[in-house]
Amino acid sequence: MAKICVIGTGYVGLVTGTCFADIGHQVTCLDIDQNRIDQLHQGIMPIYEPGLEQIVEQNVDAGRLDFTTDYSEALQGADFAFIAVGTPSDDDGDADMRYVKQAVMSIAQHLDHPITIVNKSTVPVGTGDWVAEIIQEMNGANTFPFSVVSNPEFLREGSAVSDFMNPDRVVLGSTDRAAAEKVATLYEALRSPIMITDLRTAEMIKYASNAFLATRISFINEIANICESLGADVKEVARGMGMDQRIGPAFLDAGLGWGGSCFPKDVKALAHMAATHGAHPQLLQAVMNINRNQRMRAVEKLEKALGSLAGKTIGVLGLSFKPNTDDTRYSPALDIIRMLIEAGATVQGFDPQAMTASQAEIPELQLCTSPYDVAKNADALLLATEWNEFKSLDFARIKANMRGDVIVDGRNIWYRMNLHQMGFTYFGMGVPNLSEN
Ligand code: UDX
Ligand code: UDX
Repeated sequence: MAKICVIGTGYVGLVTGTCFADIGHQVTCLDIDQNRIDQLHQGIMPIYEPGLEQIVEQNVDAGRLDFTTDYSEALQGADFAFIAVGTPSDDDGDADMRYVKQAVMSIAQHLDHPITIVNKSTVPVGTGDWVAEIIQEMNGANTFPFSVVSNPEFLREGSAVSDFMNPDRVVLGSTDRAAAEKVATLYEALRSPIMITDLRTAEMIKYASNAFLATRISFINEIANICESLGADVKEVARGMGMDQRIGPAFLDAGLGWGGSCFPKDVKALAHMAATHGAHPQLLQAVMNINRNQRMRAVEKLEKALGSLAGKTIGVLGLSFKPNTDDTRYSPALDIIRMLIEAGATVQGFDPQAMTASQAEIPELQLCTSPYDVAKNADALLLATEWNEFKSLDFARIKANMRGDVIVDGRNIWYRMNLHQMGFTYFGMGVPNLSEN
């Protein structure tokens, strides 16, 4: 059992801290947001993540998990300080490091015993060295001994708890191998492969993994667009490709492209790092361009079916960037809604968890109470995020509520033949268009 402090109680920090407590460690989660900590003390989750609330409650009750805004309390006796604060993109694509810097400076200020600082936030390659420099600079030569380890997170929102508990691998990077080995012991109970490497390589593994996954999605979206021109079905193409063990089936779902708090900023930051160091990230640029265009394709499909969108009513199902989260950061759904509103349409939407966040981002968005409410008087319906509850709807009821008959299935989840037979004009992403035959 180790004593761990986790800084940041967002999607990554709260899951990490709670799961460490669940496997037996003593954890204090710190956030500078007093409101978040007050809510956590009352058992109210600041984010929606399936399964999280229950294990937070269990571990608080067991006395292994605790929340505070006070650094001296959080760091008291801690063997490890995990940094899990956000690293959003700044204007030119670089990762904005101000929150990480703030966290490191606070650790330095309160350091009164030896500690291992573990970076979970996705930070530009080389940041590990910079963390050590800040502490040395602030505390001088007399600082308590500390080491810095990079431990990138591979937690998908929506399945973050299970991703933590069943990792494909744990990556640890440090210039101090003994420190990385100490961090490895924290994960022993999970019995997963552990890779120890140098600091910069660990930081790069995170960027390269996310960029590769984003590339797969942009690749299949490009294939989807080619399928549309040639009359092939991308869902079947992906299935056929995925059976090849060299390719594998994951991350080959064509649709509206990738969003979220990681892929957009990580691909952009990697391209930025490459460019500023004299490399030419041509593939990464194409991957980002394809992703941007994919959102426009949904709008083009609606325009093709409805003509001008001015004065039209479009219903949008799903607002979060992916199912099973309330996170709307870089959500394809919201980007498309902005374009529709720009084109003069009225947009009404529904999401099981992301209504409040979406409304805050787009005040003109009209919120509905159910998918059937979204369909009311709509000229077209766009499925933007594939929540399970949208998978089998009563389409007779949807049709009766709609003014028009156009459906754009942005995630290819519905049986197009059924909808076609019911009289809908159905468009998928990269699948043959039955209405044109
Ligand atoms: C994380 C990672 O840290 C990021 O690098 C990764 O790529 C994506 O996931 P996330 O958990 O999504 O970020 O961040 P967010 O949900 O924004 O939460 C960050 C939390 O840190 C907030 O609650 C914020 O209040 C807190 N914070 C921020 C601090 O406690 N201290 C600070 O100095 C800054
Ligand atoms: C990602 C990483 O997968 C995870 O390891 C961690 O680094 C955090 O970032 P996350 O963004 O939460 O996780 O979700 P993910 O499942 O990777 O999906 C990202 C985006 O890609 C979503 O917008 C999703 O809809 C989209 N996607 C995913 C597709 O369009 N097609 C696919 O086949 C898979």
